[in-house]
Amino acid sequence: MDTNLDLSCTLVIFGATGDLTHRKLLPAIYNLQYQRLLPEAFSIMAIGRKDKTSNTYREEAYKAVKKFSRFPMEEEVWKDISHKIYYESMNFLEKEGYIELQKRLQIIDEKHHTKGNKIYYMAVAPEYFQHIIDALHKHVINKEEKSWRRIVIEKPFGRDLESAKYLNSKIVEVFQEKNTYRIDHYLGKEMLQNIMVLRFANMFFEPLWNSKYIDNIQISSSERVGVENRGGYYEKAGAMRDMVQSHMLQLVSLIGMEPPNDLDTESIRNEKVKVLKALKKITQEDVQENTVRGQYGPGQLGGESFLGYREEERVSVTSDTETYVALRVFIENFRWAGVPFYIRTGKRMPQKSTEIIIQFKSIENILYFKEKILQPNLLVIRIQPREGVFFRFNAKEPGTQQKIIPVQMDFCQNCQLDINSPEAYERLLYDVMRGDSTLFARWDEVEYSWRFVDSILEGWKKQKPVFPNYEAGTWGPKETDLLLQKDKRGWINI
Ligand code: BG6
Repeated sequence: MDTNLDLSCTLVIFGATGDLTHRKLLPAIYNLQYQRLLPEAFSIMAIGRKDKTSNTYREEAYKAVKKFSRFPMEEEVWKDISHKIYYESMNFLEKEGYIELQKRLQIIDEKHHTKGNKIYYMAVAPEYFQHIIDALHKHVINKEEKSWRRIVIEKPFGRDLESAKYLNSKIVEVFQEKNTYRIDHYLGKEMLQNIMVLRFANMFFEPLWNSKYIDNIQISSSERVGVENRGGYYEKAGAMRDMVQSHMLQLVSLIGMEPPNDLDTESIRNEKVKVLKALKKITQEDVQENTVRGQYGPGQLGGESFLGYREEERVSVTSDTETYVALRVFIENFRWAGVPFYIRTGKRMPQKSTEIIIQFKSIENILYFKEKILQPNLLVIRIQPREGVFFRFNAKEPGTQQKIIPVQMDFCQNCQLDINSPEAYERLLYDVMRGDSTLFARWDEVEYSWRFVDSILEGWKKQKPVFPNYEAGTWGPKETDLLLQKDKRGWINI
């Protein structure tokens, strides 16, 4: 890590009273301060629509940090950061606010010696992105000199390829690609960063990492929560735009990519985007065969009753929005020809878990294995909540019989008490300050993800779904099993 980098900057957060800022951004900033990673010359301009003073905002921020931070609240640490937080109330759609903001930013900049460097963080609903960028351009940024400015854009980046292209064209008018950070917080998770290390730093994985030895790959991300208070946003997104277009396809690209020439940002992104480009298009004709969508109805879990999606706040009672998606995906290249990647993600499942299962091919019937059906080897990369690697292989059961049984090795990275993995946002915010965009999506990654997703969404339009089709607290619609049964396979539950 280059310790000589000048990290001085002001973090300008649009949407500072929202959930994301309270749960993720403020705790991440506190955690960075806790580890003494923030520069002395640092400040935060928190912007929201609600009227309040900086002092009131600091009190709210304190509570949020106390509740959500991974490090305990230490008053001394908080004192170091809290006086650098300012609040500005403004209507994102009116120019007056931006004129005022520019003046305030200048004052704060001088007070905290942040040298005019800015990170503009869009933690607002996607429909505001464009307007804010335009207004910043006109009233704030053109007055800035000799400083760097970066923009962080939350997902979803657009709602289809066309809108994403338009949004991108607006961004490039103001920010260079190298200063545009399209955040996908999954890329900041420890085990996602570990995927490349596991693959490329171990002789016993990489030579087998191809269609000759791998039978199929299953990527599952389940959540126990429903849409909570995000019905308004979720109605327009659904699981496909909310999870698949970003997080799930990023996982596919990390698992599927070729080794990059070096660890340079662009070399890694070049390899990732090749995977996204090679995704076999799911057309209208084969959408039925390769996809399953679902929506949760009312249900129970652990003695608790849950509403159905259509009963949630700000959700239409006739909503056709999917809260569950399962896909059968192929990467059309030499390494992966014929290997299905099965992907599934859903809300209101029995538990929260994200994992990748690599199922190896079965051993041919030779030697004394003849009369046995051997279990295939499995490699499981556990992303969350447990972080680690699980490996299943066959061994002889102790005893006089020649009995073969599956045994396992289970490495858990975050089970030891002294390992407290950084939160994704902590790592990512720090990377923005350092100007390292490796763990952010480049425009073409977003573009090719949308190309793939748009085609499925188009296909879905042709047929009205019969929703709800799974009960809250269960593992999703039963068609999900058929998706694999057709291939004479099944979902593996470790
Ligand atoms: C977000 C989605 O990007 O990821 C949410 O918008 C989802 O709907 C969340 O709940 C899941 O993230 P994590 O880190 O809890 O797996």
